[in-house]
Amino acid sequence: MRIDGTAYRTIWPDGEGVVAIIDQTRLPHDFAIVRLTSLEETAHAIRAMLVRGAPLIGAAAAYGVALALRADASDRGLERACATLLATRPTAVNLRWALDRMRGRLAPLPESQRVEAAEAEAAAIADEDVEINRSIGLHGAALIRAAAERKAQGKSLGEPVNVLTHCNAGWLATVDWGTALAPVYAAFEQGIPLHVWVDETRPRNQGASLTAWELKHHGVPHTVIADNVGGHLMQHGKVDLCIVGTDRTTATGDVCNKIGTYLKALAAHDNGVPFYVGLPSPTIDWTIADGVREIPIEERDGREVSELTGRTADGRIETVRVTPDGSPVANYGFDVTPARLVTGLITERGVCPATRDGLLGLFPERG
Ligand code: MRU
Repeated sequence: MRIDGTAYRTIWPDGEGVVAIIDQTRLPHDFAIVRLTSLEETAHAIRAMLVRGAPLIGAAAAYGVALALRADASDRGLERACATLLATRPTAVNLRWALDRMRGRLAPLPESQRVEAAEAEAAAIADEDVEINRSIGLHGAALIRAAAERKAQGKSLGEPVNVLTHCNAGWLATVDWGTALAPVYAAFEQGIPLHVWVDETRPRNQGASLTAWELKHHGVPHTVIADNVGGHLMQHGKVDLCIVGTDRTTATGDVCNKIGTYLKALAAHDNGVPFYVGLPSPTIDWTIADGVREIPIEERDGREVSELTGRTADGRIETVRVTPDGSPVANYGFDVTPARLVTGLITERGVCPATRDGLLGLFPERG
C-alpha cells in the first residue's frame, strides 16, 4: 500500500537481524516505524498490539522466530521462541499456524542452517499472505460488482455500493491488501462506485483509527460510524453488503472476529443484507467444529474500556477516563458469528458457503 507516495508492507526485513514494523498503536496520529531485534521485542509488539490482525500476527511471529534463532539456534531455543510467541495472543489461529510451520521447517535442520532457513520461511509466509489477499480481493470485488449491477437496474442508478465493515481487516491487519478490505480496494481500482461504513470498533477503535486512516490514504469514500449505528442503516436500505475479517474460522464455517461482529451479522440477517467474511486459508482452524464453545476469547486490560485516548487540538496525546471511579469493566476482544448468519466466505480460491462442505469444496485436500 502507498503512504504519501512510498510503497509499504506492514512488516519487512530491514538489514541483518532487524525486522521493521509500523507501530499501529500510534496511528492515526503518527506514522512511526519500529525496528525489532529480538524475540522479546517481537513478543511485546504482538502482545501490546503494535502489530495486530490475524495474518500480520502470524507473519510477525514467523519473523520473531528468525530473530530468536540468531541468539539461540538450539532445539531448546526454537521451542522457547515458539512457546513465548504462542502465549502472546490466544484467539487468532494464524499465530499457531505460522509457528507450527516454522517449527516443521526448522526442527529437522542442523543448528548452523536454521537462521537462514528461518528468515527465508518468514519471508515466504509474508509473500504468500500478500498473494492470498490479492486473490481474496479479486473474488470479493466480483460480489461488489454484482451489487453495483443490481443497484444500476433499480432506481439507484449510479449510486455507490455501500459496504459496512467492522474493526480493521485491511492492509494494516495483514502484510498487504487486507482480507475484508481487499475486495474494497480491488473494486475501487476497477472503478466500481463504492462507499464504506466504518464501525468505530470500541474499545480499541481499530475502525476509527486504522480502517479510516487506510481508506483515506487510498482515496476510498468512507464514513466512520459509532458501533451501534449499523442496524439502523440496514433498516433504511443504506447497507448493500457487509464484509468483515476473521481471526479463526471453524471447519464448519463459524467465524470468530472482533467483538461486535456477531451483532452486525444478526442485524444483517434480520434485514436481508448479505454478510460476507474475507477468509485467508491459514485462518481456518480445521481441528474444531463449534466456534462458540471451542475458540478461546481474549480478555484484555479493562482500561481499554474505561479510558479513551486521542490527540488534543494542540497536538498532545491524552488519555481520559470515561467510567466512574470504581465501576467494574469487562473487556472481551472477540465474538463468534455462527455459520448460519454468514452468506459466504471469500477465500483465495473463491467464494463458498459457510459450511464444512463449502470449505471442503475449495480445499479438498483437508477432507
Ligand atoms: O484485536 P485485533 O486488532 O488483532 O483484531 C483484528 C480483527 O479482529 C480483524 O478483523 C481480524 O484479525 C481479521 S484481519 C485480516
